[in-house]
Amino acid sequence: MGKNINEIKNEALKELESVADVNSIKELSIRYLGRKGIITQFLRNLSNLPKDERPAAGKEANHVKIFLDEQFKNAIKRLESKSIDSGLKIDVSLPGRPSVQGSMHPISEITRQICDIFTRLGFSVVEGPEVETDFYNFEALNIPKNHPARDMQDTFYISENIVLRTHTSPTQPRTMEKQDPPVRIIAPGKVYRCDSDVTHTPMFNQVEGLFVDKDVSFGDLKGILTMFIHQMFDSETSLRFRPSFFPFTEPSAEVDIRCVMCKGSGCRVCSQTGWLEILGAGMVHPAVFENIGYDTSVYTGFAFGMGVERIAMLKYEIDDTRKFFENDIRFLRQF
Ligand code: DAH
Repeated sequence: MGKNINEIKNEALKELESVADVNSIKELSIRYLGRKGIITQFLRNLSNLPKDERPAAGKEANHVKIFLDEQFKNAIKRLESKSIDSGLKIDVSLPGRPSVQGSMHPISEITRQICDIFTRLGFSVVEGPEVETDFYNFEALNIPKNHPARDMQDTFYISENIVLRTHTSPTQPRTMEKQDPPVRIIAPGKVYRCDSDVTHTPMFNQVEGLFVDKDVSFGDLKGILTMFIHQMFDSETSLRFRPSFFPFTEPSAEVDIRCVMCKGSGCRVCSQTGWLEILGAGMVHPAVFENIGYDTSVYTGFAFGMGVERIAMLKYEIDDTRKFFENDIRFLRQF
């Protein structure tokens, strides 16, 4: 038998050292390990050996076969990764890749704008719980059990006396309980009602306002709200106060603004009326002051509550309030 297996192995390794491209290594591999390769031939020729030498020689030859196969494969891998490396030329003068940034949700953006305007007018921002007691949500606001006003604010009951708040108005008694006048607060937050259609979602956002001091009048309410609307929309937007009813204010008003789309000539958005209802407001009812222990002969105040989605729909010209909560990234990216 010609060369022994170790000589063959060493020759193969030597040849491998002298080649520098993938194809040559592949050829080398075929020449040694292929069907007619040197090692394959060697294994075949083992049958010529005396019977008792065959197992040991076969084992050794197989080891060499596996070893060389590994060496060839590793060499190919090394060459391939090297060529990837050398292809990666780093240009340090290139600008960095910007990381993808989210944007403010339109409702958060409008809430922030509302709060900004009122904080500039001297109001501070407070928050109240979304899971509220019947007392703060209704009773303290002069809405006793069985009062018809509860009908319009059907809500989700956690238990008989614990509800998901139907409006941000409970922040009024909660604040007044803790603090003596003067009170000047704005309270944004989520509220809940059993409602669902194009203009109503079971959860929506409101901003509550409360101003209590000596000699606060309806004129102050009008002044503050006019200033707010002029800053939120534009200074040409006129306001209209319509008499209304809320159990916690007296007198009460619903406030409309001149339609921001058609400027009053009548369109689909304002149902051809030229006006858009934007918030509820009024002078704090003495019963509310009495409930929390303010002296009604000294203090008066006004309150108002507005829907954030309504304002966002008008500012961004959106016709379906449900779009705010579907979390469609194509919608949200526009803000
Ligand atoms: N809480 C009322 C609602 O959700 C809105 C409201 C009306 C708030 C008059 C007030 C107010 O503070 O004075 O329908």
